[in-house]
Amino acid sequence: MSELSRRHLLALSAAAAALAPLPAFAGDAPDSLNGLAGAKGLRFGSCLGTGPSGAPHGANFDPRRSASYDDPRMRELFVRECGILVPENELKWYAIRPTPEVFDFSRADTLMDFAAANGLLVRGHTLLWNSPKWFPKWFETYDFGSRPATEAERLLTEHIKTVCAHCGNRIFAWDVVNETIDHDTGLMRDTPFTKYLGLETIDIAFRAARAAAPKAQLVYNDYMAWGAHNAAHRGGVLKLLERLRRNGVPIDALGVQAHIGPGAPEGDAVFTADDQKSWRGFIADATAMNLDVVITELDVNDRYLPADIAARDAAIAALAKDYLSLMLDEKRLRYVMAWGLVDKYSWLQDNTPRADGLPKRPSPYDNDYQPKPLREAIAAAFRAAPQRSWLL
Ligand code: XIL
Repeated sequence: MSELSRRHLLALSAAAAALAPLPAFAGDAPDSLNGLAGAKGLRFGSCLGTGPSGAPHGANFDPRRSASYDDPRMRELFVRECGILVPENELKWYAIRPTPEVFDFSRADTLMDFAAANGLLVRGHTLLWNSPKWFPKWFETYDFGSRPATEAERLLTEHIKTVCAHCGNRIFAWDVVNETIDHDTGLMRDTPFTKYLGLETIDIAFRAARAAAPKAQLVYNDYMAWGAHNAAHRGGVLKLLERLRRNGVPIDALGVQAHIGPGAPEGDAVFTADDQKSWRGFIADATAMNLDVVITELDVNDRYLPADIAARDAAIAALAKDYLSLMLDEKRLRYVMAWGLVDKYSWLQDNTPRADGLPKRPSPYDNDYQPKPLREAIAAAFRAAPQRSWLL
């Protein structure tokens, strides 16, 4: 991993210089979130967005959501706290494929250049968001011709090949497949790919990713949670992972999005002992399949939490601390990604808004770039985490 060794070399030479007032990369400062994670053999990062890409077809478009990269204070904070960057939308089908013929990597390149200049690792998200509403508009009416299965396989593998070839070793981990399990039924979502390729869609995607990005960590990423209402989702994900293992499909890790917090009335504001038991069981079932675990999109949805800011922030922090301490106990948990560092850029501002219309507080930093109790909860969880013997 060239970025990784470069970062360490630079950090080492900065240490050797002794007089250098700051480490080569501020994300290496021992009290940064990435520094605290690094002391335990973990890493910390977040998503960043280059501009208002919003939803694929312009629905719910809100420029605040993805404009974080345009804000210099945001970029400064990002480099101070993070060791890993994931483009929020810029590598999704709808962002890079305006038409079936065109691949536009310009915005993804902006983020990868920024990462390289600042010694950040980059995750890739995602090679296949296998959910009908997240494909480009043209995909809905795409003509798969007289041999649709052959064409579907060609389209999928060619996409993965092209994207991986463009990004090369700049990406150390790929969310190969995102959210393919329906949370109500636990079954595979129906898309044109599954219509023609069935469950094999997922096998094909992972095999293509391994061939095109042989050094990358390959991840299945989803948002399953711990409550009873999520049992079908968890079961469906485990079934999918078992199938991949049975078929010898290359996969390295389960990505747990960790959009925690009561985003729905039946959602969980507290991580009860029963919740912890069932969630621990789910994670153990995944690691028993010889998979690593990564937290890919941590934020806390405060839709149903009290309006009072101190009470709300305390509830958010308490939930995150309980959740992270359970997750970090698992030594196969390799890194933690937040889905945004600063409240005002969070996708949750216009996704599931609060009934009282108040701005949400799902991120570790407030809109004045000041750390909130959630930042301290993440830091405390890293400080208390068991030591890993190696850094991914
Ligand atoms: C979200 C982005 O944050 C928004 O800007 C975009 O409009 C929609 O997608 N799960 C995922 C992420 O895997 O890609 C989603 O990101 C959040 C939920």
